[in-house]
Amino acid sequence: MSEPTPYRIAVIGGTGPQGKGLGYRFARHGHSVVLGSRAAEKAQPVATEVTERLSGVKGAGEVTGATNADAVAAADVVLLAVPYDGHDELVATLPLAGKTVISCVNPLAFDKRGAHGRVVNGGEGSAAESAQELAPEATVVGAFHNVSAVLLWGDEEFLDEDVLVVGDVVEAKEVAMDLAAAVTGRRGIDAGKLRLARQLEPFTAVLISINRKYKTHAGVRISGL
Ligand SMILES: NC(=O)c1ccc[n+]([C@@H]2O[C@H](COP(=O)([O-])OP(=O)(O)OC[C@H]3O[C@@H](n4cnc5c(N)ncnc54)[C@H](OP(=O)(O)O)[C@@H]3O)[C@@H](O)[C@H]2O)c1
Repeated sequence: MSEPTPYRIAVIGGTGPQGKGLGYRFARHGHSVVLGSRAAEKAQPVATEVTERLSGVKGAGEVTGATNADAVAAADVVLLAVPYDGHDELVATLPLAGKTVISCVNPLAFDKRGAHGRVVNGGEGSAAESAQELAPEATVVGAFHNVSAVLLWGDEEFLDEDVLVVGDVVEAKEVAMDLAAAVTGRRGIDAGKLRLARQLEPFTAVLISINRKYKTHAGVRISGL
C-alpha cells in the first residue's frame, strides 16, 4: 500500500489507551507523533513504551512525549483523545489556531443499564462541534470514534473495519481519511458534515453494548461502496 505524506501529529491525552493506540498505529506507518499529557513526565514513559514496540518496524516515525501544549506547537495535525469531562476546559487552553484537529471524543455516560450517549448542547451539539467553537481558527473533523483501543494496541496488522470521517472542510477530512489507512489498511470514508458527529459519538455506546453481549471489540464496516 502506498503511504500518504507523513504528518506531524500531536495526540492530546496520549497517555490513555485510545491516544496511545492511535499514536502507535500512526507512527507504525511513518508519521511522527508527540504524545501529549497534562504532565510531560507522564508522557515520556508512554512514548518510550510505544517506541520500544516499534523497534524493528521499517520506516516507523519518531514517537516522543511532551505537555499537551508543547505537543500541539510541534504538530500540524492534532488528535483530541481525552475524556469528555474536562474536554472543553482543556481545548480552550490549547494553541490550536491553524491546525487540523481530529476529535475521537465520545461523550458517554454509564449506568446499570450500560453505556449511553450524553446530550450535548441540548441535542444540538457534539464534542467535535464544541472543539470547533472553542478553537474557531482551527479546522475540526471527527474520526476514529468507533475504533477500539484494545484492537489498536493489538497484534493485527490492520483492523477489519472502516473509519468514518465527518467535517465541514474537505481538505481537513482528507487528512483524517489518509491517517485512517494506518489503522484499517484503507482510507477513511467521508461520512458528511461535522454536525454528524452527533450521531457518530454516541453510536459508540451501541458498540460497547455489543462488546458486552458478544465478548468482542466490535467496529463499523460500511457496505455498498
Ligand atoms: N478507549 C477506547 O476504546 C475508545 C474508543 C473510541 C473513542 N474513545 C474516546 O477517546 C477518548 C480517550 O479515551 P481513553 O479511553 O484513552 O481515555 P482516558 O484513558 O480516560 O483518558 C485519556 C487521557 O486524557 C487525560 N485526561 C484525563 N482526564 C482529563 C481531564 N479532566 N482533562 C484533561 N485531560 C484529561 C489523561 O492524560 P494525562 O493525565 O496524561 O493528562 C488520560 O491519560 C475519550 O473521549 C473516549 O470516548 C475511546
